[in-house]
Amino acid sequence: MLRSILLVICVVAANAFHLSMISGGRKPLMAGNWKLNPKSVQEAISLASDLAKRAQGVTDVDIAVFPPICMLYPVQQSIANTNIKLGGQNCYTADVGAYTGATSTCMLKDLGVEYVMVGHSERRALFGDNDSIIGRKLKKVLAQGMKAVLCIGETKEEYEANLNHEVCAIQIMKDLSGVTADDMKRVVIAYEPVWAIGTGLVCPKEVAQEVHSFIRSTIEKKYGANVASETIIQYGGSVNAANVKELMAMPDIDGCLVGGASLTADGFEKIIKFNR
Ligand code: PGA
Repeated sequence: MLRSILLVICVVAANAFHLSMISGGRKPLMAGNWKLNPKSVQEAISLASDLAKRAQGVTDVDIAVFPPICMLYPVQQSIANTNIKLGGQNCYTADVGAYTGATSTCMLKDLGVEYVMVGHSERRALFGDNDSIIGRKLKKVLAQGMKAVLCIGETKEEYEANLNHEVCAIQIMKDLSGVTADDMKRVVIAYEPVWAIGTGLVCPKEVAQEVHSFIRSTIEKKYGANVASETIIQYGGSVNAANVKELMAMPDIDGCLVGGASLTADGFEKIIKFNR
């Protein structure tokens, strides 16, 4: 009897140890970036509710969805009291005032948002978000007590010119300027090679691992080994059910930021359950 009790305790402890040690002790974060989708609130509610059912019992990864701002409230209602966290795709640096079209971090927080994305390549390329704006937004998110997902990554031309390290290092140094080691507990980095976003061209896992390891070493130089080993570094760019497992097997890939494949509950379920 005593032996079987001890055996059960050992198995439970070993499982708990394994789960807590995924990716070097970092709990993976799987995030769905819905971008400008879906077309209606009703579809957003269906997607969020369906996903919430499928995500029940998933404890080995953190899960977040980033709907368009006008859908945050209904999605928040659909995922309340579930293991899915809410994310905002963008924010502004003022709290209130004469800023037509803007959404402030205090409004996002009030809606139950826990993560705010800054620096997505589409914001950089289409909406003029430069490193200085991105750095200010990121600090505002942190000051509001939320977590920031900082997206970085090189374009196709930069990749072909072998400049991926340089581009990532510059974006990290500029976008994290003024961010303290303590703040870094609430910063997630998402490495998204621009040429891999929405193209179906996933970055080869070895290349992604090599860049992630470089990003971690850049964080280490700036903040020290402890912060570097605790920082979640996601990969993003054409992640889907078929390639998620091999990407997640890389030691420095701590989760994925998923666009297209997060737009169906079935597709995103396979991603959050990559381990099964
Ligand atoms: P994708 O988008 O998965 O559709 O390539 C990723 C992203 O832009 O975050």
